[in-house]
Amino acid sequence: MAETVVADEQEFKHLTVTPLAGALGAEIGGVDIAAGVDEETLAEIHRAWLSHHVIYFRDQNMTPEQHIEFAKRFGDIHPHLFNKALDGYPEIIEMLKTPAESINNGDVWHSDQMYTPKPAKGTMLYGREIPPYGGDTIFVNLYLAYDSLSDGLKKTLAGLKGVNDGDTKNNTSGMSRMERVTSGVAPLAQINPGNAQTVSVHPLVRTHPETGRKALYLGYHTDQIEGWSNEESKPLLDYLKVHARRPEFTCRVNWSKDMLTFWDNRCTQHFAVNDYTGFQRRIHKIMIQGDTPF
Ligand SMILES: [Fe+2]
Repeated sequence: MAETVVADEQEFKHLTVTPLAGALGAEIGGVDIAAGVDEETLAEIHRAWLSHHVIYFRDQNMTPEQHIEFAKRFGDIHPHLFNKALDGYPEIIEMLKTPAESINNGDVWHSDQMYTPKPAKGTMLYGREIPPYGGDTIFVNLYLAYDSLSDGLKKTLAGLKGVNDGDTKNNTSGMSRMERVTSGVAPLAQINPGNAQTVSVHPLVRTHPETGRKALYLGYHTDQIEGWSNEESKPLLDYLKVHARRPEFTCRVNWSKDMLTFWDNRCTQHFAVNDYTGFQRRIHKIMIQGDTPF
């Protein structure tokens, strides 16, 4: 059992919270999710999540039903607009990479579903099969990315909005999702989003609805600044995207089998490292509905 570290003003009575890095991330101990989480413990988990932005619970033994039930304690499920759900479980995306596959899902810096009008506030990933090494997920703290900007740039960003495209070609292949599916280089089965809105405009600096703190809000899907040309947008967006990934804003989550990781998309970006080809990795993903960013 990890040593208890109290990183907040209030103590935790029902769980241990051990920070992973200075910027964000904490391991939660003392909780058996499958055995049931009472309201007091849930409130402490919620508080730890808001304080550390990425939290993880090792050695959980959960059925898909228990994973769904736990996610629903934090809000309604946010379905993925493009990824096909697991058979029998419309709430779950199974991210499977077999030993023969080289393409990985999620190895771009992004915040989940920011191209939707109400992006997922949280994402809960459960590791069912984990490679012996590799396959870490890196996170950045977008509060710190914002706080560390100059007052001048903060003023410039106030009121600016990013255009976030769920089918951006802003990737190394230069292809849309459907082009990647057609050419056989999509990592996951894709569905047609139908009439769902897949391009959304959100503030480049958003106020977290629960903490009141400001965070940069941009990622892989952010193609343009609203009202600016592509040529004008790119240098500033490129600067902000690189700035947001400074090493001191990051933590690196090292997975183990039966581990549940739960992060806050409103103040973080993440990147799934593709360095485990030859091994199988199978992760179950559930996202939780958020609000309209402001
Ligand atoms: Fe993601």
